Amino acid sequence: MAKGLRVGSELRQIEVKTVGIVGSGIMGSGVAEVAAKAGYTVVLRSRTDAGANDMIAGLEKSLIKQVEKGKLDDGERSAILDRVRAVTDLGELATCDLVLESIVEDLDAKKQLFRDLDRLCGDDTILATNTSTLPVVEMAMDTGRPDRVCGIHFFNPATLMPLVEVVRAITTSDETIATARDFATACGKTVVDVRDQAGFIVNALLFPYLNNAVKLLDAGVASRDDIDAAMKGGCNFPMGPLELLDLVGLDTSLAILEALYEEFKDPNYAPAPILRRMVSAERLGRKSRIGFYDYRK
Ligand SMILES: NC(=O)c1ccc[n+]([C@@H]2O[C@H](COP(=O)([O-])OP(=O)(O)OC[C@H]3O[C@@H](n4cnc5c(N)ncnc54)[C@H](O)[C@@H]3O)[C@@H](O)[C@H]2O)c1
Repeated sequence: MAKGLRVGSELRQIEVKTVGIVGSGIMGSGVAEVAAKAGYTVVLRSRTDAGANDMIAGLEKSLIKQVEKGKLDDGERSAILDRVRAVTDLGELATCDLVLESIVEDLDAKKQLFRDLDRLCGDDTILATNTSTLPVVEMAMDTGRPDRVCGIHFFNPATLMPLVEVVRAITTSDETIATARDFATACGKTVVDVRDQAGFIVNALLFPYLNNAVKLLDAGVASRDDIDAAMKGGCNFPMGPLELLDLVGLDTSLAILEALYEEFKDPNYAPAPILRRMVSAERLGRKSRIGFYDYRK
Protein backbone atom coordinates (compact mmCIF):
# COMPACT_ATOMS: atom_id res chain seq x y z
CA MET A 1 0.00 0.00 0.00
CA ALA A 2 1.49 3.33 -0.91
CA LYS A 3 0.79 7.00 -0.77
CA GLY A 4 2.75 9.79 -2.37
CA LEU A 5 4.09 12.40 0.03
CA ARG A 6 5.19 15.75 -1.32
CA VAL A 7 8.85 16.45 -0.49
CA GLY A 8 9.71 19.74 -2.13
CA SER A 9 8.54 19.17 -5.69
CA GLU A 10 9.15 15.40 -5.46
CA LEU A 11 6.79 12.69 -4.45
CA ARG A 12 7.64 9.55 -2.53
CA GLN A 13 5.37 6.74 -1.49
CA ILE A 14 4.15 6.01 2.03
CA GLU A 15 1.45 3.74 3.38
CA VAL A 16 -2.30 4.39 3.06
CA LYS A 17 -4.01 3.49 6.31
CA THR A 18 -7.20 5.53 6.46
CA VAL A 19 -9.63 5.72 3.57
CA GLY A 20 -12.53 8.15 3.36
CA ILE A 21 -15.61 7.21 1.36
CA VAL A 22 -18.11 9.93 0.46
CA GLY A 23 -21.63 8.91 -0.58
CA SER A 24 -23.98 6.47 1.08
CA GLY A 25 -25.59 4.96 -2.00
CA ILE A 26 -25.16 1.56 -3.61
CA MET A 27 -21.48 1.99 -4.40
CA GLY A 28 -20.27 3.95 -1.35
CA SER A 29 -21.53 1.25 1.03
CA GLY A 30 -20.05 -1.57 -1.05
CA VAL A 31 -16.62 0.02 -1.40
CA ALA A 32 -16.56 0.82 2.33
CA GLU A 33 -17.16 -2.85 3.12
CA VAL A 34 -14.45 -3.98 0.71
CA ALA A 35 -11.91 -1.49 2.11
CA ALA A 36 -12.67 -2.36 5.74
CA LYS A 37 -12.34 -6.07 4.95
CA ALA A 38 -8.96 -5.34 3.36
CA GLY A 39 -7.79 -3.90 6.71
CA TYR A 40 -8.14 -0.17 6.07
CA THR A 41 -9.62 2.19 8.63
CA VAL A 42 -12.68 3.61 6.88
CA VAL A 43 -14.42 6.93 7.47
CA LEU A 44 -17.76 6.84 5.72
CA ARG A 45 -19.48 10.15 5.03
CA SER A 46 -23.19 10.55 4.47
CA ARG A 47 -24.93 13.93 4.43
CA THR A 48 -27.51 12.86 7.00
CA ASP A 49 -27.53 10.96 10.29
CA ALA A 50 -30.13 8.62 8.82
CA GLY A 51 -27.85 7.85 5.86
CA ALA A 52 -24.86 7.28 8.17
CA ASN A 53 -26.88 4.97 10.45
CA ASP A 54 -28.26 3.06 7.45
CA MET A 55 -24.77 2.48 6.11
CA ILE A 56 -23.58 0.98 9.39
CA ALA A 57 -26.77 -1.10 9.71
CA GLY A 58 -26.31 -2.34 6.11
CA LEU A 59 -22.69 -3.25 6.79
CA GLU A 60 -23.63 -5.10 9.99
CA LYS A 61 -26.31 -7.04 8.11
CA SER A 62 -23.95 -7.95 5.29
CA LEU A 63 -21.24 -9.14 7.71
CA ILE A 64 -23.71 -11.21 9.75
CA LYS A 65 -24.81 -12.95 6.54
CA GLN A 66 -21.17 -13.77 5.79
CA VAL A 67 -20.71 -15.22 9.31
CA GLU A 68 -23.85 -17.34 8.81
CA LYS A 69 -22.45 -18.63 5.53
CA GLY A 70 -19.14 -19.49 7.23
CA LYS A 71 -17.17 -16.95 5.18
CA LEU A 72 -16.13 -14.89 8.23
CA ASP A 73 -15.81 -15.70 11.91
CA ASP A 74 -17.36 -13.55 14.59
CA GLY A 75 -14.03 -12.02 15.62
CA GLU A 76 -13.36 -10.91 12.05
CA ARG A 77 -16.87 -9.48 11.78
CA SER A 78 -16.41 -7.33 14.86
CA ALA A 79 -12.86 -6.26 13.86
CA ILE A 80 -14.17 -5.10 10.46
CA LEU A 81 -16.99 -3.15 12.10
CA ASP A 82 -14.54 -1.54 14.51
CA ARG A 83 -12.55 -0.20 11.57
CA VAL A 84 -15.55 1.69 10.13
CA ARG A 85 -16.87 5.00 11.38
CA ALA A 86 -19.82 6.79 9.77
CA VAL A 87 -19.86 10.60 9.92
CA THR A 88 -21.89 13.46 8.50
CA ASP A 89 -19.24 16.20 8.75
CA LEU A 90 -17.00 16.27 5.67
CA GLY A 91 -14.25 17.78 7.86
CA GLU A 92 -13.86 14.36 9.54
CA LEU A 93 -12.12 13.20 6.36
CA ALA A 94 -9.28 15.67 6.91
CA THR A 95 -6.81 13.06 8.11
CA CYS A 96 -7.58 10.41 5.49
CA ASP A 97 -4.72 9.29 3.24
CA LEU A 98 -7.09 8.56 0.36
CA VAL A 99 -10.66 9.79 -0.17
CA LEU A 100 -12.86 8.08 -2.76
CA GLU A 101 -16.07 9.88 -3.62
CA SER A 102 -19.06 7.87 -4.74
CA ILE A 103 -21.85 10.44 -4.84
CA VAL A 104 -24.47 11.00 -7.55
CA GLU A 105 -23.19 10.91 -11.16
CA ASP A 106 -23.42 14.67 -11.63
CA LEU A 107 -20.38 16.70 -12.62
CA ASP A 108 -21.36 19.91 -10.79
CA ALA A 109 -22.03 18.00 -7.55
CA LYS A 110 -18.73 16.16 -7.84
CA LYS A 111 -16.76 19.33 -8.65
CA GLN A 112 -18.23 21.07 -5.60
CA LEU A 113 -17.27 18.08 -3.47
CA PHE A 114 -13.70 18.11 -4.82
CA ARG A 115 -13.40 21.82 -3.99
CA ASP A 116 -14.59 21.11 -0.43
CA LEU A 117 -12.32 18.09 -0.02
CA ASP A 118 -9.33 20.03 -1.36
CA ARG A 119 -9.95 22.73 1.25
CA LEU A 120 -10.48 20.29 4.13
CA CYS A 121 -8.00 17.46 3.51
CA GLY A 122 -4.27 17.41 4.13
CA ASP A 123 -2.00 18.39 1.22
CA ASP A 124 -0.92 14.81 0.69
CA THR A 125 -4.37 13.23 0.61
CA ILE A 126 -5.21 11.59 -2.69
CA LEU A 127 -8.70 12.48 -3.93
CA ALA A 128 -10.32 9.86 -6.13
CA THR A 129 -13.63 9.51 -7.91
CA ASN A 130 -15.71 6.41 -8.53
CA THR A 131 -17.38 8.10 -11.51
CA SER A 132 -18.54 5.80 -14.29
CA THR A 133 -18.09 8.29 -17.12
CA LEU A 134 -17.45 11.88 -16.06
CA PRO A 135 -14.18 13.69 -16.91
CA VAL A 136 -11.77 13.14 -14.02
CA VAL A 137 -9.62 16.06 -15.18
CA GLU A 138 -12.47 18.51 -14.53
CA MET A 139 -12.65 17.40 -10.90
CA ALA A 140 -8.84 17.48 -10.66
CA MET A 141 -8.62 21.04 -12.00
CA ASP A 142 -11.05 22.27 -9.35
CA THR A 143 -8.46 21.37 -6.72
CA GLY A 144 -5.02 22.70 -5.91
CA ARG A 145 -3.62 19.17 -6.33
CA PRO A 146 -4.51 18.01 -9.86
CA ASP A 147 -1.57 15.57 -9.75
CA ARG A 148 -3.15 13.84 -6.77
CA VAL A 149 -6.56 13.17 -8.32
CA CYS A 150 -7.53 10.02 -10.25
CA GLY A 151 -10.42 7.67 -10.90
CA ILE A 152 -10.80 4.41 -8.95
CA HIS A 153 -13.82 2.81 -10.58
CA PHE A 154 -15.29 -0.15 -8.71
CA PHE A 155 -18.13 -2.23 -10.17
CA ASN A 156 -21.53 -3.12 -8.78
CA PRO A 157 -21.81 -4.95 -6.41
CA ALA A 158 -18.38 -3.79 -5.20
CA THR A 159 -18.16 -6.67 -2.73
CA LEU A 160 -18.41 -9.25 -5.54
CA MET A 161 -17.13 -7.77 -8.78
CA PRO A 162 -13.42 -8.44 -9.25
CA LEU A 163 -12.51 -5.46 -11.46
CA VAL A 164 -11.33 -1.92 -10.75
CA GLU A 165 -10.50 0.56 -13.51
CA VAL A 166 -7.76 2.98 -12.41
CA VAL A 167 -8.26 6.14 -14.43
CA ARG A 168 -5.40 8.49 -15.25
CA ALA A 169 -6.30 12.10 -15.98
CA ILE A 170 -3.84 14.19 -18.00
CA THR A 171 -2.76 15.77 -14.72
CA THR A 172 -2.41 12.58 -12.59
CA SER A 173 1.08 11.73 -11.31
CA ASP A 174 2.64 8.27 -11.53
CA GLU A 175 2.75 8.14 -7.72
CA THR A 176 -1.01 8.73 -7.49
CA ILE A 177 -1.65 5.95 -10.00
CA ALA A 178 0.68 3.62 -8.07
CA THR A 179 -1.18 4.38 -4.83
CA ALA A 180 -4.58 3.83 -6.46
CA ARG A 181 -3.42 0.53 -7.97
CA ASP A 182 -2.01 -0.61 -4.61
CA PHE A 183 -5.27 0.27 -2.85
CA ALA A 184 -7.44 -1.59 -5.37
CA THR A 185 -5.09 -4.59 -5.35
CA ALA A 186 -5.11 -4.68 -1.53
CA CYS A 187 -8.93 -4.72 -1.80
CA GLY A 188 -8.54 -7.98 -3.73
CA LYS A 189 -9.40 -6.49 -7.11
CA THR A 190 -7.91 -6.98 -10.56
CA VAL A 191 -6.75 -3.61 -11.86
CA VAL A 192 -6.87 -2.31 -15.41
CA ASP A 193 -5.36 1.02 -16.39
CA VAL A 194 -7.31 3.39 -18.57
CA ARG A 195 -7.09 6.95 -19.75
CA ASP A 196 -9.63 9.59 -18.71
CA GLN A 197 -12.16 9.22 -21.51
CA ALA A 198 -15.92 8.88 -21.01
CA GLY A 199 -16.98 5.34 -20.11
CA PHE A 200 -13.37 4.20 -19.66
CA ILE A 201 -13.30 0.58 -20.92
CA VAL A 202 -16.28 -1.25 -19.46
CA ASN A 203 -19.05 1.34 -19.76
CA ALA A 204 -17.92 2.55 -23.19
CA LEU A 205 -18.52 -1.01 -24.42
CA LEU A 206 -21.44 -1.99 -22.17
CA PHE A 207 -23.77 0.99 -22.43
CA PRO A 208 -24.54 0.95 -26.17
CA TYR A 209 -25.67 -2.65 -25.62
CA LEU A 210 -27.84 -1.76 -22.60
CA ASN A 211 -29.29 1.28 -24.37
CA ASN A 212 -30.14 -0.76 -27.47
CA ALA A 213 -31.91 -3.33 -25.29
CA VAL A 214 -34.20 -0.54 -24.01
CA LYS A 215 -34.79 0.62 -27.60
CA LEU A 216 -35.72 -2.95 -28.65
CA LEU A 217 -38.17 -3.17 -25.77
CA ASP A 218 -39.66 0.23 -26.54
CA ALA A 219 -40.06 -0.68 -30.22
CA GLY A 220 -42.03 -3.78 -29.21
CA VAL A 221 -39.57 -6.16 -30.90
CA ALA A 222 -39.63 -8.49 -27.90
CA SER A 223 -40.87 -8.55 -24.34
CA ARG A 224 -38.79 -7.62 -21.29
CA ASP A 225 -38.53 -11.25 -20.21
CA ASP A 226 -37.59 -12.47 -23.68
CA ILE A 227 -34.89 -9.82 -24.13
CA ASP A 228 -33.32 -10.80 -20.81
CA ALA A 229 -33.75 -14.52 -21.45
CA ALA A 230 -32.21 -14.13 -24.91
CA MET A 231 -29.01 -12.54 -23.68
CA LYS A 232 -28.64 -14.97 -20.78
CA GLY A 233 -29.33 -18.05 -22.89
CA GLY A 234 -27.77 -16.84 -26.13
CA CYS A 235 -24.62 -15.17 -24.79
CA ASN A 236 -24.27 -16.87 -21.42
CA PHE A 237 -24.49 -13.50 -19.64
CA PRO A 238 -25.34 -13.89 -15.94
CA MET A 239 -28.00 -11.16 -16.15
CA GLY A 240 -30.17 -9.80 -18.94
CA PRO A 241 -29.67 -6.15 -19.98
CA LEU A 242 -32.90 -4.92 -18.39
CA GLU A 243 -32.15 -6.69 -15.11
CA LEU A 244 -28.68 -5.17 -15.19
CA LEU A 245 -30.02 -1.66 -15.80
CA ASP A 246 -32.28 -2.10 -12.76
CA LEU A 247 -29.24 -3.14 -10.70
CA VAL A 248 -27.12 -0.18 -11.85
CA GLY A 249 -29.98 2.29 -11.30
CA LEU A 250 -31.82 3.95 -14.19
CA ASP A 251 -30.85 7.48 -13.04
CA THR A 252 -27.18 6.52 -12.95
CA SER A 253 -27.56 4.73 -16.32
CA LEU A 254 -29.17 7.82 -17.87
CA ALA A 255 -26.36 10.02 -16.52
CA ILE A 256 -23.77 7.59 -17.93
CA LEU A 257 -25.39 7.63 -21.38
CA GLU A 258 -25.67 11.41 -21.34
CA ALA A 259 -21.97 11.76 -20.51
CA LEU A 260 -21.03 9.26 -23.23
CA TYR A 261 -23.23 11.04 -25.78
CA GLU A 262 -21.81 14.42 -24.75
CA GLU A 263 -18.28 13.11 -25.34
CA PHE A 264 -18.71 11.16 -28.60
CA LYS A 265 -22.02 12.29 -30.17
CA ASP A 266 -22.48 8.67 -31.22
CA PRO A 267 -26.22 7.86 -31.67
CA ASN A 268 -25.68 4.53 -29.91
CA TYR A 269 -25.12 6.53 -26.73
CA ALA A 270 -28.18 8.79 -27.13
CA PRO A 271 -30.39 7.64 -24.23
CA ALA A 272 -33.51 5.72 -25.23
CA PRO A 273 -36.39 8.19 -24.65
CA ILE A 274 -38.26 5.72 -22.44
CA LEU A 275 -35.28 5.61 -20.06
CA ARG A 276 -35.58 9.35 -19.43
CA ARG A 277 -39.35 8.99 -18.88
CA MET A 278 -38.81 6.18 -16.37
CA VAL A 279 -36.33 8.30 -14.42
CA SER A 280 -38.82 11.21 -14.40
CA ALA A 281 -41.39 8.79 -12.99
CA GLU A 282 -38.86 7.76 -10.29
CA ARG A 283 -38.73 4.23 -11.62
CA LEU A 284 -35.04 3.88 -10.89
CA GLY A 285 -34.72 0.10 -10.66
CA ARG A 286 -33.95 -1.85 -7.50
CA LYS A 287 -33.13 1.23 -5.43
CA SER A 288 -36.68 2.60 -5.82
CA ARG A 289 -38.08 -0.95 -5.89
CA ILE A 290 -39.51 -0.50 -9.37
CA GLY A 291 -37.85 -0.18 -12.75
CA PHE A 292 -38.15 -2.60 -15.64
CA TYR A 293 -39.07 -5.11 -12.93
CA ASP A 294 -41.27 -4.67 -9.87
CA TYR A 295 -39.44 -5.44 -6.59
CA ARG A 296 -42.25 -4.29 -4.28
CA LYS A 297 -43.79 -7.71 -3.77
N1 LIG B 1 -24.64 1.93 -9.72
C1 LIG B 1 -23.61 1.34 -10.32
O1 LIG B 1 -23.75 0.25 -10.89
C2 LIG B 1 -22.26 2.01 -10.32
C3 LIG B 1 -21.13 1.24 -10.61
C4 LIG B 1 -19.86 1.85 -10.57
C5 LIG B 1 -19.74 3.20 -10.29
N2 LIG B 1 -20.87 3.93 -10.03
C6 LIG B 1 -20.70 5.35 -9.74
O2 LIG B 1 -20.72 5.49 -8.33
C7 LIG B 1 -21.28 6.78 -8.01
C8 LIG B 1 -22.47 6.59 -7.09
O3 LIG B 1 -23.42 5.75 -7.71
P1 LIG B 1 -24.47 4.89 -6.86
O4 LIG B 1 -24.96 3.84 -7.77
O5 LIG B 1 -23.90 4.54 -5.54
O6 LIG B 1 -25.63 5.98 -6.70
P2 LIG B 1 -26.77 6.08 -5.60
O7 LIG B 1 -27.89 6.83 -6.23
O8 LIG B 1 -27.05 4.75 -4.99
O9 LIG B 1 -26.09 6.98 -4.47
C9 LIG B 1 -25.71 8.30 -4.69
C10 LIG B 1 -25.45 8.94 -3.34
O10 LIG B 1 -25.04 10.30 -3.57
C11 LIG B 1 -25.67 11.12 -2.60
N3 LIG B 1 -25.73 12.47 -3.14
C12 LIG B 1 -26.56 12.96 -4.08
N4 LIG B 1 -26.26 14.25 -4.33
C13 LIG B 1 -25.20 14.56 -3.53
C14 LIG B 1 -24.46 15.75 -3.31
N5 LIG B 1 -24.72 16.86 -4.01
N6 LIG B 1 -23.44 15.72 -2.42
C15 LIG B 1 -23.16 14.59 -1.73
N7 LIG B 1 -23.86 13.44 -1.88
C16 LIG B 1 -24.85 13.43 -2.78
C17 LIG B 1 -27.05 10.49 -2.41
O11 LIG B 1 -27.61 10.89 -1.18
C18 LIG B 1 -26.69 9.00 -2.44
O12 LIG B 1 -26.32 8.56 -1.15
C19 LIG B 1 -21.64 7.45 -9.34
O13 LIG B 1 -20.57 8.27 -9.72
C20 LIG B 1 -21.78 6.25 -10.29
O14 LIG B 1 -21.53 6.59 -11.62
C21 LIG B 1 -22.13 3.36 -10.02
